[in-house]
Amino acid sequence: MSLQRRAFVVGGHITPFIGKGHPDFVWKRHPDFGTRQNPSLEDYISQSVQGALQSTGTPAELVEKAWIGNFVGELFCNQGHLGAAVVGADRALLHKPVMRVEGACASGGLAFSSALEAIQAGADVTLVVGAEVQTTASARDGGDYLARASHYRRQRSIDDFTFPALFARRIRAYHEAHGLTEADLAHVSVKAYANANQNPLAHMHAVSMTHERAAGVEGNPKFLSNPDVREFLKVSDCSQVSDGGAALILVSEAGLQKLGKSPADAIEVLGLGHATGNLYEDNDPLAMETTTAAAAVAYSQSGVSADEVDIAEVHDCFTITELLMMEALGWASPGQSAAQVCDGRTAIGGQLPINTGGGLVGFGHPVGATGVKQILEIYRQMKGLCGAYQVQRSLSIGVTANMGGDDKTAVVGVFANR
Ligand code: CAA
Repeated sequence: MSLQRRAFVVGGHITPFIGKGHPDFVWKRHPDFGTRQNPSLEDYISQSVQGALQSTGTPAELVEKAWIGNFVGELFCNQGHLGAAVVGADRALLHKPVMRVEGACASGGLAFSSALEAIQAGADVTLVVGAEVQTTASARDGGDYLARASHYRRQRSIDDFTFPALFARRIRAYHEAHGLTEADLAHVSVKAYANANQNPLAHMHAVSMTHERAAGVEGNPKFLSNPDVREFLKVSDCSQVSDGGAALILVSEAGLQKLGKSPADAIEVLGLGHATGNLYEDNDPLAMETTTAAAAVAYSQSGVSADEVDIAEVHDCFTITELLMMEALGWASPGQSAAQVCDGRTAIGGQLPINTGGGLVGFGHPVGATGVKQILEIYRQMKGLCGAYQVQRSLSIGVTANMGGDDKTAVVGVFANR
């Protein structure tokens, strides 16, 4: 069934995503250590909201409802109740209905889904925010916090780094079923870093990744301790522990008019699928079943087929996830996705560019912000706003796929350039 009311993304704002490896990130060996602090969660929420309102020319008074996606503000920042934090970003938001939504790494996608439902129910102007700060803890302690997105009681103990180990298990299964090699996976990582090197907002903007380094262990350790999966995952296969925020404005046709805009200023939401798996059961490691289910809804609602997609942002929390996402979204048969990355089909100049700003591996992964950032990246590519990493042809149809946990929550969107 198609959407009852048309809905348009009119733009928004992405803050720089920073963390270890980014020149602006203050840590103990940074020259600014002791004199300057990294932005806080409060700063990221405020910058994202203000940036989105200003860049789209949206008076905060016109916003009827807002949502914020955030996963574990309580653990990294001792701060929950983030709906009220969004109100703190602009006085004109006072007493408007705002709430936080949480679905692990799909929190941003769920915030967007909530806003789309509000548009269907009659709202005209909505605000969608995502933010996360994760660098307040070590990667090891953060691994424990992030493990809350798994079935903690059953899965926490598989490794200190629970999520890297869960996805190393998928690499192992894929290797055994399809003969995937470290050299194959290295192509996904090299593409992510190469794209991030062109993107000034990316966490890995200043870090280069050669195929030799990504395929080997020199400066790229296999850091898991679980012997069943240790051999299968290296640092270069992982998304970053990043801080950052993003916010966008989603409106109805009447909302476009209120902002003095036309469909040509926006991208239209053609379909959105949201699917949820069972936290207590393991999936088939060779498939992203929940993402496939969300994609089926999004494609059917939009009337778009997989081969019509011009550009995509998919949830590459690990290099293997990008390959499995390509298969779940209908762009490759099982076992065939790596070949498309190797031959450049998914590069910026390829037939189906994927994760042009660097994805979660290169752009970074401030968990709650990721799903919002993905949609803005499609908007920015479609409107020619991506500078050095701009795709040099017109783009009609874009897809986003945001995923939480080990493929337990999935939000897939289909967008059209108007
Ligand atoms: N040799 C051997 N081991 C080494 C090493 C070396 N040269 N260098 C590092 N290590 C090991 C050590 O065990 C080290 O831990 P300790 O220092 O505590 O002993 C461990 O690797 C980590 O080292 P660092 O702290 O230096 O690592 P880092 O800060 O560079 O981080 C990373 C690297 C661990 C891969 C980190 O980037 C990471 O955890 N990335 C993944 C983040 C993640 O899982 N996000 C969630 C994705 S899942 C998703 O999206 C869905 C959802 O809902 C959660």
